[in-house]
Amino acid sequence: MTAFDTTPHEFGKPLPQKASDEVLEALFNRRSAPAPTLQQPGPSPEQMDLLIRLGLRVPDHGKIGPWRIVRFTPEAKTQVVEKLKALAESRGDKKDVGALIKMSTPPDMLMVVSAPIQPHKIPLWEQQLSAAAVCQNLLIAAGAMGYGANWITDWYAYDAEARTILGVKEDENVAGFIYLGTPTEPPLERERPDYDARVSWWG
Ligand SMILES: Cc1cc2nc3c(=O)[nH]c(=O)nc-3n(C[C@H](O)[C@H](O)[C@H](O)COP(=O)(O)O)c2cc1C
Repeated sequence: MTAFDTTPHEFGKPLPQKASDEVLEALFNRRSAPAPTLQQPGPSPEQMDLLIRLGLRVPDHGKIGPWRIVRFTPEAKTQVVEKLKALAESRGDKKDVGALIKMSTPPDMLMVVSAPIQPHKIPLWEQQLSAAAVCQNLLIAAGAMGYGANWITDWYAYDAEARTILGVKEDENVAGFIYLGTPTEPPLERERPDYDARVSWWG
């Protein structure tokens, strides 16, 4: 499936590190694909397994793994969409119902949950940053596999009842839903924050 050996590394094994213009080019051109444009096919089961393993290889101060990933079978995904839709409809919130197109259209999705260990000597903020790194790794790895991906939170990441439907615990936060599939159109460059306004020399 891949041109490299994906056998899990043993602890302490020296890891090959090589310069790669391909990785740089991928990052240079990286762009999310809007979730409603993501169609079949999504990643195969083997690709999804590798994608998740790559997603979890992130910097993590203290090696505490303060995150978890939730997978959804197609049936579970449909069920969750229906439950969230019923919730939004019960409140008469058309905007929230409409927003669910982002979850219902893509063939696949992962939920990345920030699950900090508290109290802990590693600051909460650092644990949450590590969960964000999981999301970003997933985006990059999905792109390298040829899929489109979109990192979304939306209302259901924050709504108490929606969080219960999703199985998010009180002390957890949804770092993001990563919607996955094949984009129907090439992404267009978006406006980027100005380099000079964001980068400065100290002093
Ligand atoms: C934590 C987080 C949450 C986001 N939630 C949403 C969202 O709910 N709805 C949305 O349209 N975009 C959301 N976005 C933005 C999308 O991911 C957006 O497509 C992306 O920033 C485009 O940038 P890119 O092309 O550089 O990847 C979110 C981004 C982040 C980092």
